[in-house]
Formats: sequence, C-alpha cells, structure tokens
Amino acid sequence: MKFFVDTADVDDIRDLAATGLLDGVTTNPSLIAKSGRNILEVIEEICGLVDGPVSAEVAATDFDTMLKEGRKLAKIADNVTVKVPLTMDGLKTCHALSSEGTMVNVTLCFSANQALLAAKAGASFVSPFIGRLDDIGEDGMMLIEDIVMIYENYPHLETEVLAASIRHPQHLLAAAKAGSHVATIPPNVIRQLYSHPLTDKGLAAFLSDWEKTGQSIL
Ligand code: E4P
Repeated sequence: MKFFVDTADVDDIRDLAATGLLDGVTTNPSLIAKSGRNILEVIEEICGLVDGPVSAEVAATDFDTMLKEGRKLAKIADNVTVKVPLTMDGLKTCHALSSEGTMVNVTLCFSANQALLAAKAGASFVSPFIGRLDDIGEDGMMLIEDIVMIYENYPHLETEVLAASIRHPQHLLAAAKAGSHVATIPPNVIRQLYSHPLTDKGLAAFLSDWEKTGQSIL
C-alpha cells in the first residue's frame, strides 16, 4: 500500500520524507489556504522533496478554465498530479489531461458509480472521502470496499483507489484490509501509526537494564 501525506505543510513533508515512508503528497484548496502560501510556489517546493505523485487541485469549475489551470499546474514538475472534482466538467478535464499524459486525481468521490466514471475518464487516482461519509452517518469504508471490488472486475481499468479523508489509524487499517492501493493520511495520523504505549514502556525497560550492564556498544 502506498502512503501519501495529506498536507501542504512543507516542514511536515520534509520530516516525513526523511523516514522513507512517503510515496506521494495530496493537497487541496483548503490545505493550500492553511499553508498561507502561493499554490505554484508551494507545489514546486513539495515536488522537490518527494519523487512520487504530488496532487495539486484546480480551482475553476468549468471545463475550459480547469483545463488551462491543470496544464499550468502540470508544467510545474513531472510528478504533479492534477486534481479535479468529480463533476461532469471535472471528468471532461480528466479525460483531456490524461490523454495528454498528465496524471489526474479525481477527488470528492462519494459513490462507487462516481468512481467508475473516474476510471472510464482515465484517472490515475480516484479519491473516495471516508471520513466525510462517516460524518454524515454513512459507511465510508464500505465505499472503499465496493470500488476495489468493482475495479478488480475490470482489470483493464488502471485507476488506483486513493483512500482519502482519513481521520484515525483504524481508517487506514480498514482501507489496507479492503485492498485500497493508496491512502492519503494527515501528518498527525501518520505519527499515531508508530506510537504505542507498550513500545515506549518496553524501550524504557531495555534502557534501564542496559545501563546496569555498564557496557557501551561504541
Ligand atoms: C484528499 O485528497 C483530501 O485532501 C482530504 O483527504 C480531505 O480530508 P478531510 O475530509 O479531512 O478534509
């Protein structure tokens, strides 16, 4: 399973990239706003830190402008993935950009039928939003399971399922069990993945016993 980080915070990305765990980055207009930075500058900086796909989202809603914005974003670096919303104009933009060889991430996916459309439009990634479905009392994980199953039925579809709107480690675990190809995870949730009280307790006990030996490895 590939791990993307869901942030436009360059310091967080730099830190996590050093662990070797990062396969890519996703941003969205809200995350760019939170960073307080210019989208073109911050995406260029992120692309210099991570080799894998870096999603940069268009801001327009009509086909012509989305296409222009997508082409401009794609010029920033080879690993830019243009993110478009799952609307009719977004799907047209996806089709046009992917025909030109640009990776496209179709975002704001809330149904399996929408995911099927994204795949047929040539998306490299489709982003089903788990947390936001859970928020309205629906089962976000069932959507991931459905899309994975549907895509498996049609092996010529090359779109990867990118589990998005992940709020806690259990979301990641369930998405991995369901066979999601990718998960985009907020930095705080990535940090929660490796921390465990028994790891801390065990390490403290090892260090205390080691001190008693009076030894040094170096
Ligand atoms: C995905 O690409 C989105 O940026 C993100 O996962 C949305 O998450 P949220 O619902 O926590 O805002």
